[in-house]
Amino acid sequence: MKTILIQQACTLWDQGEVVAIPTETVYGLAADAGKDTAVAKIFAIKGRPQFNPLIIHGYSLQQLSDYVEITPLFEKLATTFWPGPLTIVGHRKKDARLSYLVSAGLDTVAVRIPGHPHALELLKAYGNPLAAPSANKSNTISPTSATDVAISLKDKVPLIIDGGHTTVGVESTIIDVTGAIPTILRPGGTPYEDLAALIGEVQYAPSDSVIKAPGMLKRHYAPSIPLHLNRRAKQEGEVLLGFGDMECDLNLSKEGCLQEAAANLFRMMRELDTISHQAIAVAPIPRIGLGVAINDRLQRAAASPESDSHDH
Ligand code: TXA
Ligand code: MG
Repeated sequence: MKTILIQQACTLWDQGEVVAIPTETVYGLAADAGKDTAVAKIFAIKGRPQFNPLIIHGYSLQQLSDYVEITPLFEKLATTFWPGPLTIVGHRKKDARLSYLVSAGLDTVAVRIPGHPHALELLKAYGNPLAAPSANKSNTISPTSATDVAISLKDKVPLIIDGGHTTVGVESTIIDVTGAIPTILRPGGTPYEDLAALIGEVQYAPSDSVIKAPGMLKRHYAPSIPLHLNRRAKQEGEVLLGFGDMECDLNLSKEGCLQEAAANLFRMMRELDTISHQAIAVAPIPRIGLGVAINDRLQRAAASPESDSHDH
């Protein structure tokens, strides 16, 4: 990465500004996690309800240990999966110099070390942790390229760092380790199977539990036209988003590779989301590995707007 860009980003963060940065999952709208006004700016730009807590991004476990209690379980997860698409919710350190807005007044905090070289360079150069939700307007498809960010937020952010297409393509898995049983609050880029293989018992948060993560809201990743799931063929007026060896308009992965499908998901949903189509039909995706996160995002995108009274 060019030094001048790193310097520009750090200067903006110092001044309480917001900068869009690439991560391996989706692009993030990043601000200094210690500055209330900077964090408030994130919410204003996204048009997001203020009670949603944000993820804190850091570059090392040592650095993050100033902000969150590192239990043996936390450390085991962190050393295995970081840098990478896993967010861990732990107890917030009492003296943590973090904006209260960032964790929406909760006594827990969600942290991760992203696995994108640009993100790591920027985090190291800045030194303070950065709060970063996906760099898009609330309730729209998450951005997987600098162009996606520019389309939705160009006039609102002073700097967008281009790090190419994201490789994971869906947001990080969020695991809460503050309870008796580690609980997945949001399926994402780190598969359930990998977590269970390392730590044994892991549960999904019951769907009727208190909403801790807006990823848990029913409708969250929405294209502007209807989405019809588990279709092997399209009807009139529809376009078909395929998976595996099949006739379709765009294919998430001809080889049936779930990792490739995740990386393509949001980009292809954007491409097909135009007024010239009446709806997007999507092929069935197996519910294993990254397929769980893909199905989760698709189901939320397909939910009717009325089904979600929590969101604003
Ligand atoms: O892949 C990602 O995680 C991306 C990239 C940019 O890093 N970020 C992202 O952030 O998806 P965002 O703000 O869209 O999602 C943050 C999620 C929310 O669902 C939020 O409720 C949850 O993290 N979260 C944050 N703090 C939490 C806490 N203390 N307890 C439970 N959930 C928390
Ligand atoms: Mg988001």
